Amino acid sequence: MSFPLDRARRLRANPGLRRLVRETSLEPADFVLPLFIRPGKGRKRPIESMPGHFQYSIDEMLKALPAVVAAGIPAVILFGIPEKKDAKASGAFAGNGIVQQAARAIKDRFPGLIVIADLCFCEYTDHGHCGIVKNGAVVNDATLALAAKTALSQARSGADIIAPSGMMDGQVSAIRRALDCSGLEMTPILAYSAKYASAFYGPFRDAAESPPKFGDRSTYQMDPANVREALRETALDAEEGADMVMVKPALPYLDVIAKVRERFDMPVAAYSVSGEFSMIKAAAAKGWIDEKKTALETLTGIKRAGADFIITYYALEAARWLH
Ligand code: PBG
Repeated sequence: MSFPLDRARRLRANPGLRRLVRETSLEPADFVLPLFIRPGKGRKRPIESMPGHFQYSIDEMLKALPAVVAAGIPAVILFGIPEKKDAKASGAFAGNGIVQQAARAIKDRFPGLIVIADLCFCEYTDHGHCGIVKNGAVVNDATLALAAKTALSQARSGADIIAPSGMMDGQVSAIRRALDCSGLEMTPILAYSAKYASAFYGPFRDAAESPPKFGDRSTYQMDPANVREALRETALDAEEGADMVMVKPALPYLDVIAKVRERFDMPVAAYSVSGEFSMIKAAAAKGWIDEKKTALETLTGIKRAGADFIITYYALEAARWLH
């Protein structure tokens, strides 16, 4: 069929028709809200590069959560800023660590809210790398034992989902085995399978106080130029027992999301990272773009590419806009 028989504009003629044939929908249940938790009481410290986001003490975080639940957001992902950092990342697996305490407090007060524990060490090590460092290099296998220990501690504190983001080889199987040996075989793993060494993490590293003190993360996070490697990484995580896989960042990696969606029949998450959020906020603050439309268009694009759900700093605002 061709013009004039075929007129694509016929189905765009009014809002009702457009709604009827819309291929992608966004809803509050698509979003996961990241939260940054620090020790103390009564603290709600604004994160300058991420307007509307804060480093919360647990009591202040609890005050913020009713709005999150009311907006229909099903899950939060927790990042901890510990009291002290050291070479062993002790704060990551401590029974009274900051994420452990936060998870307990949330599950106590909001049992229906899903708590995802990000499992990484850069916030907890004094050198800011995502694992054990020896002779200036991040050592893979020594880090796995730490990951297993941290996963157990997080799950025992009530975390519903463990999300390893360190990009160590074998981290998913190390965690799966540890959980299964401890009667936590029903705790799912959301694997950061294709996590790129991205410049878009800049604002997060301020928020989580986690920039590396030397070098960068390119010996463990992926080269932004690669997509076949992302499929290999995802296949490994799936074989190792991941329940869900993730692509991160989202916007510059829509092709990766689409390919992972096509290849794997498991839930695919996308992490729309701090830099993606801050770019929209900054341009909107200057009056250069319409914030609501740009943010919703971006989230729609990430879903259209194939993400089942999106970790986004716009979770709360977007959920409200959609209501
Ligand atoms: C920890 C981690 C990072 C992010 C999530 N988990 C930063 C990093 O790898 O340096 C970034 C998230 C964001 O930018 O929003 N490894």
